[in-house]
Amino acid sequence: MAEATFHFPRRFRWGTATSAHQVEGNNNKNTWWVWEQQEGHILRGHTSGLACDWWGGRWREDFDRAAESGQTVLRLSIEWSRVQPEPSAWNEDAIDRYRQMMRGLHSRDITPLVTLHHFTDPLWLSWEGGWEQDQSAAFVAYVEKMVTALKEYVDWWCTFNEPNVYAVMGYVLGVFPPGKRDIGAAFRVMTNLVRAHAAAYQAIHRLQPKSRVGVAHHYRGMEPKRGWLPLDRMAAGWQARTFNEFFPQALASGRLALPLRRLRIAPARGSQDFFGLNYYTEEQVAFDLRAPADLFSHRSLHPEAEQSPSNFIVHRPQGFYRAIEWAVGHGLPVVITENGVDDEEDRLRPRYLAEHVHQIWRAVNFNWPVLAYFHWTLVDNFEWDRGWTQPFGLWALERDTQARKKRPSADLYAQICQANALSSEMVARYAPEIFLEMFPNE
Ligand code: BGC
Repeated sequence: MAEATFHFPRRFRWGTATSAHQVEGNNNKNTWWVWEQQEGHILRGHTSGLACDWWGGRWREDFDRAAESGQTVLRLSIEWSRVQPEPSAWNEDAIDRYRQMMRGLHSRDITPLVTLHHFTDPLWLSWEGGWEQDQSAAFVAYVEKMVTALKEYVDWWCTFNEPNVYAVMGYVLGVFPPGKRDIGAAFRVMTNLVRAHAAAYQAIHRLQPKSRVGVAHHYRGMEPKRGWLPLDRMAAGWQARTFNEFFPQALASGRLALPLRRLRIAPARGSQDFFGLNYYTEEQVAFDLRAPADLFSHRSLHPEAEQSPSNFIVHRPQGFYRAIEWAVGHGLPVVITENGVDDEEDRLRPRYLAEHVHQIWRAVNFNWPVLAYFHWTLVDNFEWDRGWTQPFGLWALERDTQARKKRPSADLYAQICQANALSSEMVARYAPEIFLEMFPNE
């Protein structure tokens, strides 16, 4: 049996990622809470409810789990509506609770990466028109408040999580709040998110010159469904340019490629210190004349590739390699801010984890500057419009009792984190079915 170890650079960091609304519980002052209570919005009528009860203090036991597994970084987010429940009021107790959490990470030798906006908005912001309006001033006030409060513990910041997903789900597909189907509104939202990011980037650097600020970009490989058909290739190109490229291009150049016009937002130019990459899966794109609102495309998952139990993710590790290559092309250090798979029974996850980690190893061997990997996620959490139906956790959550149950992947990931490497022994033990593919005899 072939034996080998894929070693990672000494400074490479391993961790897990999550977001406030998905784990805190009783988060009732934001747009998502209201959206969840309305019928037909969330699969099986689920609500976030108590979630993983982090707000009740269970972050402590989960941070212990992360530390004991050898994780040295953790990505989590601040819930804006908790710290600023009304435009004119700050909740100092909530801010203090976040400070305790950051101290909790430090005392466990874990470095936080803090996301300031992860899909949720305070209700008052939505009453003021949400992100269809320029909310830069409001966002910067909140960001300044949090940076001032946490800068003793935090110097890695992510302003926005997946602005493309936020805009498409909320304003094109209408499955996230505010539930619109209006492509013009989606572009207005994207534009305002660029403005707010740029303003926040400057504000964070004013308060903390040594901080590193980025965005978690969601990337999906867009393959033409019929590679031989020019129309499919064209549709795949449009999808890639709008979905994948719009935001990162704007932050690199300060220029926005809007339909039929160009817009300059000069302060956005060069406004990232690292490139956050969220990768889960790839898609196929077919030209569809009946879908003008979706840029004349029909998007689907590769029919032959292995799918996660809910058919949400296809297992395409090569797509991850292409995603990393794309991210590295932006000329910044890359942080894998999310990657994972929903899999209650943990049948696919060990293999998914090993093969995706292997792709990062290939990338670092070219000396590509990939600094860290955050697996999504530590404990099963509330998966937005799909409620609790998609367990992404290394630990399963039993919601009635709040008990956590370790899945085998948690042990595999702990071994990877502790060894700073992926070895043939680990693969033989946790994902024997791919052993020969990863470690051929010859
Ligand atoms: C989001 C997470 C989400 C994950 C899995 C990402 O797009 O940032 O909040 O839970 O995907 O669906």
